[in-house]
Amino acid sequence: MVQSISTSVTDVPISKDAIPLHLSASSAARPGHRCIALTGFMGCGKSTVARLLAKQIGWIHADLDKRIVERAGLTVPEIFSRHGEASFRGIEQEELRRILGEAIEFSRPTIVSLGGGTIVQDKNVEALRQAGCPIIWLYCNVEELLRRCSHITNRPLFRDEAGFRELYAQRLPFYEQADYRVESSVEPLRVVQQIIELKILEGVPS
Ligand code: S3P
Repeated sequence: MVQSISTSVTDVPISKDAIPLHLSASSAARPGHRCIALTGFMGCGKSTVARLLAKQIGWIHADLDKRIVERAGLTVPEIFSRHGEASFRGIEQEELRRILGEAIEFSRPTIVSLGGGTIVQDKNVEALRQAGCPIIWLYCNVEELLRRCSHITNRPLFRDEAGFRELYAQRLPFYEQADYRVESSVEPLRVVQQIIELKILEGVPS
């Protein structure tokens, strides 16, 4: 069963190409989460927002790409060029499970910033669901994402503008699996506020 999105995000300006989001029944029905995951296309601000949010509410921030880099001892482009994307996705899956496992085992309230492609793998979505970790989509229109990413060279999947737009379109259905959507073309602190206003974080008054 699906429910419509929290009213707290409807007053945020959503670009005309925004896709209506529905809450999935799995985790969204239950308030008071101690683990949440941020998803969205590259450049939408997942890591920045997760860091600021975690700091503001006193939770731990786990950045999936950072964990992958630490584990591999290589940068993300190096993993892609030396071992291929499949190898990156394998490490990504293992590290996500590790982060979720630690959050549960040590009762650590955690904000997880996922990679832009993490929720393309069904197993990752399953792991998040099993951990009771709602997924929040940081929605941003493609023009703004292009503007933010055009000068950044450390993203192996950003080769040119046409490829970027194509990948963005391919990814939208995956991001729609998220439980909540917030507008992320605005300042990171406004994104943080929108997430707090969803009232899904245990022990965090809005
Ligand atoms: C990817 C996005 C990157 C990183 C890797 C793959 C993707 O993360 O995980 O380059 O598939 O979209 P960011 O979204 O943080 O750039």
